[in-house]
Amino acid sequence: MQQFKPAWRDGYFRARIMAVKNLSTDMLEVVLKPERAWPTHTAGQHIALTIEINGRLTTRVFTVASGADTHRRTKCIRLVTKVKAQGALTPHLHSCLPNQWVNISAPMGEFIVPKVEKPLLMIAGGSGITPFIAMLDDAIEKAQLNNTPVHLLYFAKPNEHVLIDELSAFQKRCENFSYSILTKQKDGDLEAHLSYFADAHWLVCGPNAMYEQARHCAELISAPLSSEHFAALPAINSSSPGQSETFSLLHNGETLTIDNQQSLLSQLQQAEQPVTYGCGMGICHQCQCVKKRGVVRDTRTGELSDSAEQLIQLCVSQAVTDLEIQL
Ligand code: FES
Repeated sequence: MQQFKPAWRDGYFRARIMAVKNLSTDMLEVVLKPERAWPTHTAGQHIALTIEINGRLTTRVFTVASGADTHRRTKCIRLVTKVKAQGALTPHLHSCLPNQWVNISAPMGEFIVPKVEKPLLMIAGGSGITPFIAMLDDAIEKAQLNNTPVHLLYFAKPNEHVLIDELSAFQKRCENFSYSILTKQKDGDLEAHLSYFADAHWLVCGPNAMYEQARHCAELISAPLSSEHFAALPAINSSSPGQSETFSLLHNGETLTIDNQQSLLSQLQQAEQPVTYGCGMGICHQCQCVKKRGVVRDTRTGELSDSAEQLIQLCVSQAVTDLEIQL
C-alpha cells in the first residue's frame, strides 16, 4: 500500500508538505495540502500532525492558522508553531522536504467563534495567536464582522510577535477589527487591559497562567469566556486530596501497582508498557483505551467516571479505585 500511497495509515488522513518557512528565530510556518477526503476545519480548530522520525511515529497537536475558506480556495492549510529545542517533533519540521507525505487527523476542538451578538475580545499569548488568525481570515473574508467589533490583545515577548503584517492587513480590510501588540514588560499584566472590555465575549488562547488571569477577571465581572490552553491543567488529587493511595491496574493479563497522583499514561510509561500516545494533554485521543472496570478521575475537570466499561484517555486519567483496562 505504501508503494501506491506513501504514508497511508489506517485511521489517518494524508497531507503533503508544500512549504516550511521561518517566521522568526523560533517560529515556523508549515503549509500542508491535505488529501481530498480531509473534512475542512472550522477556524479555531486543531489537528494532530504525525511524522515518522527515526522510524518512530511522532504526533503533536497544532492549531490550523488559516481559515476554512482559504482551504477551500487553495486546498492548503497552514500551521504556525514555536520550535522547541528539546521538542519531539518541532525541531524536525525544518528538515521536512516539499512534497513529503505526513499524516494528519480530522479537525478537532470546540474553540471557534461563538455565535453571540456581542463584541468579541480575543486574548492571545505567544503562539496562541494562531486560532485568531484563522478566525479573522474567515470572518473578514465572509464580511461577518460588519456588526461585531473585535479587538485583539496580543501578548508575546519583545520582538516575538508574528504575523503582524497579516493583522495589519485585516485591520485595513475591516474597520470593526483592531488590535494591540503588547509585552508584559512594557504594558503590564493582561488584567490591566481587561476592564475596557467588560461587555465583550472573551476568547483566550495562550499559556495556562494567562488563561487563569483572564478566567479570574471574567468571573469577577461575569464576562462570558471561551478558551484553549497550551498545557494540561494541573492534576487534581483523588478523593483524599493530597494523600497518595495505591491501586492495582490490570491490563492484558499483567498487574501493576499505580498511585492516584500521576496519570495512567505516565505510570504505564514508567513501567515500560507499550502505550500509544500523542499530545499528552487530552487533545489527540491517541492514548484512548477501553476501561473495563473501576473509576478514574479526569485530571482536567476532576470529574469521576462511572465504574462500567467505557473509553478513557490515559494521559488525563488518574486512578480512584483498582482498575482494569484493555490497551
Ligand atoms: S496523548 Fe493525546 S489525548 Fe492522550
